[in-house]
Amino acid sequence: MPESEEISRGLEDVNIKWTRLTTIDGEKGILRYGGYSIEDIINSGAKVEEIQYLFLYGELPNKEKLEKFRENVEKGYNVPGYIIETIRKLPKESDSVAMQMTAFASLAAAETKFKWNKETNRELAALSIGRMAGITVNVYRHFMGMEPAIPEHSDSFAKSFLKAAFGKEPSQESIDAMNAALILYTDHEVPASTTAGLVAVSTLSDIYSGVTAALAALKGPLHGGAAEAAIAQFAEIGDENNVENWFKNNILSGNRRLMGFGHRVYKTYDPRAKIFKSFAEKLVKNNKEAEKLFKIAKKLEELGIKQYGAKGIYPNTDFYSGIVYMAIGFPLKNNIYTGLFALSRITGWQAHFIEYVEEQHRLIRPRAVYKGPEPRQFLPINKR
Ligand code: ACO
Repeated sequence: MPESEEISRGLEDVNIKWTRLTTIDGEKGILRYGGYSIEDIINSGAKVEEIQYLFLYGELPNKEKLEKFRENVEKGYNVPGYIIETIRKLPKESDSVAMQMTAFASLAAAETKFKWNKETNRELAALSIGRMAGITVNVYRHFMGMEPAIPEHSDSFAKSFLKAAFGKEPSQESIDAMNAALILYTDHEVPASTTAGLVAVSTLSDIYSGVTAALAALKGPLHGGAAEAAIAQFAEIGDENNVENWFKNNILSGNRRLMGFGHRVYKTYDPRAKIFKSFAEKLVKNNKEAEKLFKIAKKLEELGIKQYGAKGIYPNTDFYSGIVYMAIGFPLKNNIYTGLFALSRITGWQAHFIEYVEEQHRLIRPRAVYKGPEPRQFLPINKR
């Protein structure tokens, strides 16, 4: 029997591991990756591949180290043919994150010889980041009715991804915004998805199964699913002049939650949301639909903060990210915005898995407090 009858609902404020990766100050709205503030990273113009390296190796790379790392990532771009076939057998209406899960579960199925090993864990994680890029390109192209494509080497991860997804040269503005989005979503300590993946790898299951478990948890609307749910709310409102009425009828009435608002850890404005908002501001000028939704979002933000700010409920990272993705050129379709979140977060997931398995491994096996019937006699079916 567990010693205490108390339960920790939602594992709120339970520390399940230590980490060198990410630190969050939820009261002050501070986010740091390996000690570097998210604002400094974005303002420096860093490429996401430098941040991927930082997460897997603990330090920023020099040029030579980055080149070698990028080669490992790019080896993963060329996803096995059976993965592309599997994706293309799924209905065109399929959810993007569920398609990514199917692809990663297929990689787990084929990888029967996997072993956690300090010598190879990071190389394999780099390869998985590349695989995720190849998979996400093909998930997108499948539901858009386009032929399969494989990302190719270029001067940046963001550019290779966008070029393969859209089948044409992306603008520098889109590359910069995609690169920033990839950095902003890289890691966020141990939210539901990372925790789900950690539970899986704590059994020493393979890295692809860990990613599959993390994707399953990311998909829900209270976590990564909010990236698409938030912009879907703006689209549902449809016009700046409807915002107040919609807010009153749907949110103040208590019928629904404002998606992209509120956070388990942040009790103030999510620093990532501020950066997404500034990118949205610049990008929407070239996209009428995104511009319209951005105006709605800003008005909704005002009402939301007025109503909930005092309770510590502010925009989170998902509030403006969908507008940025739309302005880059991705349609509001098949939950692809959450799929783009996953393309980035795979780095944080794997870095946490490696930190856990290599340095602090223990099977995650909590207890439940029994509240059921007292012991009773089991009657065979013909006596019930
Ligand atoms: N809209 C309206 N009310 C809210 C919202 C919201 N978005 N978020 C929290 N609240 C209210 C709750 O109704 C509750 O009110 P009460 O005390 O009067 O009952 C109170 O705030 C506390 O809410 P909880 O759900 O207990 O807080 P929790 O820490 O579990 O919430 C969560 C975190 C799940 C993210 C929540 O804020 C939410 O549902 N937000 C909308 C979904 C969303 O945007 N998710 C993305 C999170 S960020 C990410 O995963 C990348």
